[in-house]
Amino acid sequence: MKKNKIFVACDSPNISKIKEIINHTKNSKLKIGYKFGLEFLNSKKGRNFVSNLKNYITFGDYKFNDIPNTCAAAVKAVQDLKFNYLTIHISSGLEALKAAKKVSKKTKLVGVTILTSLDNKELKKIGFNRDVKKLVFHQAKLAKKAKLDAIVCSAHEVKIVRKIFKKEIITPGIRFSKSKNDQKRILTPNQAYKNGSDWLVIGRPITKGNIKKNIQTLINHLGK
Ligand code: C5P
Repeated sequence: MKKNKIFVACDSPNISKIKEIINHTKNSKLKIGYKFGLEFLNSKKGRNFVSNLKNYITFGDYKFNDIPNTCAAAVKAVQDLKFNYLTIHISSGLEALKAAKKVSKKTKLVGVTILTSLDNKELKKIGFNRDVKKLVFHQAKLAKKAKLDAIVCSAHEVKIVRKIFKKEIITPGIRFSKSKNDQKRILTPNQAYKNGSDWLVIGRPITKGNIKKNIQTLINHLGK
């Protein structure tokens, strides 16, 4: 049977916490990749730590969001880290996506749609009046046009994105415990896979508290 694929969000500025996350999430039941985001990659030792990682599936969650020239230059600037996956905000625009894709080589370029921490109410506050599902669908079309390798969206939008995007779909905003934290568009791991997610991104529900125990809780949930 195919293993469920999970990116563990390694969100801490602390090297020993990151090592603990990596060591305690290893298991034979799940296919695990490690996602490093703004918090760790901008910490003093973060970049160097990632440059020394070997034989892991790695995900550089920089969420580049800039003009075409800067996005492409940034993709090149992190090429030495040999990430398997690297993110750019689709709202950077089609030209920026194309420019970044042109130089991303073996690294899969992942387009980030509307953040899972935003719902329709929050979107209105920043001037977006369209329904979140429609916005995500619109952005997925742009990602397809730019020939991106994967899309990040919430598990609620996977079915609609799948209609036009046939490559990998990665979904954060996953919860199998009570706490939502700052996330708004959430679903459980089983619901997300059922909707067609290829990879789930899970951070705090795994990394807070007893990591091994949390992994076991996740495995039990997936077995239901
Ligand atoms: O702790 P939690 O499971 O909420 O972590 C989710 C991770 O996914 C965080 O690292 C966050 O930066 C990232 N992410 C997200 N929503 C997106 C894109 C990335 O939550 N749309």
